[in-house]
Amino acid sequence: MVACAKSLGVRYYGVSEHFDYEYLATPITVYGKLITSTTDAERYFSEIRALQKTQNAMDFTLLAGCEMGFYAALQCHEAYAAVHERYHPDFVVNSVHTVDGVDAWFREYFEGKTKQQAYRRYFEAVRSSLDAPYPYDIVGHIGYVSRNAPYPDVKLRYGEFSDILDDILRTIIEKDKILETNSSSRGAGSDFLPDVDILSRYYELGGRKVSFASDAHVTTRIMFGREKVVAALKAIGFTHITVPACGKHISVAL
Ligand SMILES: [Fe+2]
Repeated sequence: MVACAKSLGVRYYGVSEHFDYEYLATPITVYGKLITSTTDAERYFSEIRALQKTQNAMDFTLLAGCEMGFYAALQCHEAYAAVHERYHPDFVVNSVHTVDGVDAWFREYFEGKTKQQAYRRYFEAVRSSLDAPYPYDIVGHIGYVSRNAPYPDVKLRYGEFSDILDDILRTIIEKDKILETNSSSRGAGSDFLPDVDILSRYYELGGRKVSFASDAHVTTRIMFGREKVVAALKAIGFTHITVPACGKHISVAL
């Protein structure tokens, strides 16, 4: 993936391996299998730190990050805080996948819920994730709940959830966090998450810090959809992407 990112001319390449400790805090079954272990932090950080030593150059920086799946459970918070203390990730994406014990990717989460109920409950979890008691830099993929929702119209619209979205966006700004734009929208009804309506509102409220993630998982998706995201951000008024690196925010012109 590093070789691929380099060949595409990426200047700052952040890897945010999933830690998914929320899966350990609440018994979660994925495709019929109970999840009992997730990423091996020791192995991940030792490998990526070694890679940084050989790959980082004047025009390329590999950032060793992690994605912490927020879940409102002390066990989960403590596990993430311990990762931070021990490995000092270069950056952390804090994101919500699991709500009330179910990953919102799976149909089970939506059972018995209207779109309004399912999305609102997810946003409430996103709102509490902003108060996570461990350090984080980026608020990941807002709108994840819409990626695999079973409704005829899955699209997430700012107007339908403006009260809680305003609270979320204002809090991101107040806490000086970075709002992620994520081009892996899957079936969400837009090319990226969150869509232009939410990004415009963030800008209107004074938010200027956005990151770009292709959420690639595989080499063929590195930088996927970046042009569309950049065009949309420029049209709104954004001029920079913010790259978090070891506690600093680096501005990169769009
Ligand atoms: Fe994620």
